[in-house]
Amino acid sequence: EMDPQERAFQGRIDRGEKIEPKEWMPEGYRKTLIRQISQHAHSEIVGQLPEGNWITRAPTLERKAILLAKVQDEAGHGLYLYCAAETLGISRDEMFEQLHSGRAKYSSIFNYPTLSWADIGAIGWLVDGAAIMNQVPLQRCSFGPYSRAMIRICKEESFHQRQGFDIMMKLCKGTEAQQKMAQDALERWWWPSLMMFGPADGDSVHSAQSMAWKIKQDTNDELRQKFVDQTVPQADFLDLKVPDPDLKWNQERGSYDFGEPDWDEFFQVISGNGPCNEERLGARVKAWDDGAWVREGLMAHARKHARRTT
Ligand code: 3HC
Repeated sequence: EMDPQERAFQGRIDRGEKIEPKEWMPEGYRKTLIRQISQHAHSEIVGQLPEGNWITRAPTLERKAILLAKVQDEAGHGLYLYCAAETLGISRDEMFEQLHSGRAKYSSIFNYPTLSWADIGAIGWLVDGAAIMNQVPLQRCSFGPYSRAMIRICKEESFHQRQGFDIMMKLCKGTEAQQKMAQDALERWWWPSLMMFGPADGDSVHSAQSMAWKIKQDTNDELRQKFVDQTVPQADFLDLKVPDPDLKWNQERGSYDFGEPDWDEFFQVISGNGPCNEERLGARVKAWDDGAWVREGLMAHARKHARRTT
């Protein structure tokens, strides 16, 4: 049963009003936004690692410059999102502590290895494609700072997806060996990309409440279906075969029927036991430790400077 304050808040949400940081909000609304926005920010920061591995190995200077720009964009997206989360009363240090201790999650997709240059194409095409599918609705999120950050971030994401698809087109029009690389990358990234949308609706603990608060606009399965319907024709265009024997066009539904992701694998990956979890988290902890002297120096300077001006 809602108390009058919660009822008034729900009225604002139902009228499509934006909630700003200083306004009253139910503790649960604040908590779930801190959870989702901070984990979204962690995803952007950790998401730089799989691609960073290929910046020095890019096949041409142009591809190197494009990949560098994309990875830098991801860093910026992370910083925007940390700022949006801070407006809800959590500090940057607390968020980093939650990530480094393994208590906070980041997108499952970044716990898979990037084994060939074709993976950089598959990541742009599929991972950023899925991220766009998931982030476009978030532009309409009821919490002001998150929705505004998403509007800015979505503008850059379309470049990320197009450059990835361009790499895949190049490979698919290339030699036999290049076509094989592209097919191999699709086979390794297809199912993990479907898992990015989260567990099946029946297993989604937050969806119902997040949709009532207009944080989430569509369910996990709805977005997953949209992603499959949009991406399969692109794979056909590339003459690549999607690794799903159950994939079939369903005329009545006007959508593709497709198989079940391996949910055991998904839950293993999001509880820290994926192929690269240790490596990814280790890289973030090392970066944090290696940067301690810079943070301490800046803080000492700021204290000294503050003394001078007070
Ligand atoms: N990876 C890791 N954890 C996931 C996950 C995934 N792909 N999908 C779901 N989970 C977790 C949830 O966080 C939740 O755990 P928690 O309570 O500890 O946070 C649990 O699984 C149950 O899932 P729910 O469906 O109940 O959770 P949500 O309602 O939060 O839905 C979500 C999950 C769709 C990922 C939602 O949180 C969301 O939209 N997040 C913001 C968008 C985001 O993070 N996208 C990642 C894209 S990667 C990226 O942005 C980089 C890009 O530029 C390449």
